[in-house]
Amino acid sequence: MSEDRPQVTLKLATSLDSRIALSTGVSQWITGAQSRAEVHRLRANHDVMLTGIGTVLADDPKLTARPDGVDAPHQPRRAVMDSRARTPAHGAFVQAGPVTVFHVNDHPPADLVEAGAELIRIAPQPDGRACLTAALLWLYRTGARTLMIEAGGALASRAIAAGVVDRIEWFRAPIILGGDGLPAIAALGLESLSEPPTFNRTSVRECGRDLWESWERI
Ligand SMILES: NC(=O)c1ccc[n+]([C@@H]2O[C@H](COP(=O)([O-])OP(=O)(O)OC[C@H]3O[C@@H](n4cnc5c(N)ncnc54)[C@H](OP(=O)(O)O)[C@@H]3O)[C@@H](O)[C@H]2O)c1
Repeated sequence: MSEDRPQVTLKLATSLDSRIALSTGVSQWITGAQSRAEVHRLRANHDVMLTGIGTVLADDPKLTARPDGVDAPHQPRRAVMDSRARTPAHGAFVQAGPVTVFHVNDHPPADLVEAGAELIRIAPQPDGRACLTAALLWLYRTGARTLMIEAGGALASRAIAAGVVDRIEWFRAPIILGGDGLPAIAALGLESLSEPPTFNRTSVRECGRDLWESWERI
């Protein structure tokens, strides 16, 4: 790997038709208990968990590692891509322990700082959002070597488009949510099939009623 960034795993928990939520935003729970336990083990094996503000506002997840229902001895750092620093100071995500908020605001809200969040102002991308690769570089420089993204389709597609996803851990439940459900990966803007992001499957396992596929970037 040439870039100064952590190795990035993208975790997806989807329906058979690759949807992560209903159009109403309801997403808990698509996959089964066994898959969720495996996700907690994966969290414990990464230095950082990264999500997007869309997920924090919709689900307010803790993103801590609780493989057997209790906190794992190693907890990943937790971070959110949140350009306008909208992360709720009193939500479970912030209250569960130290979090880093990557934003582009000149004046981040005082209540987030008072709640103990670490606010890191980074460069905006051309679309005005906090720059993902700048966040990865900052995390790498502060010691992170492995990172797992658990987010909605917007951050997942940005990570795929930026070419920074090294592995995908994909949990697929035996349900169909239909085209009005939210896609796991939002628009990529591809115009040809000559060079789409491509992955090699390295394993496939049964996980209760779900399938757990592991993929590596080619
Ligand atoms: N099934 C599952 O496992 C699962 C997991 C996670 C989420 N979900 C569902 O996904 C839905 C939320 O999806 P989402 O796509 O809105 O959420 P998301 O990907 O978690 O967050 C997207 C937001 O992140 C912010 N952001 C900051 N920097 C960004 C960057 N460089 N690239 C992309 N985004 C950046 C943007 O808001 P700003 O412009 O304000 O910064 C953007 O709207 C919810 O319904 C949730 O329940 C499901």
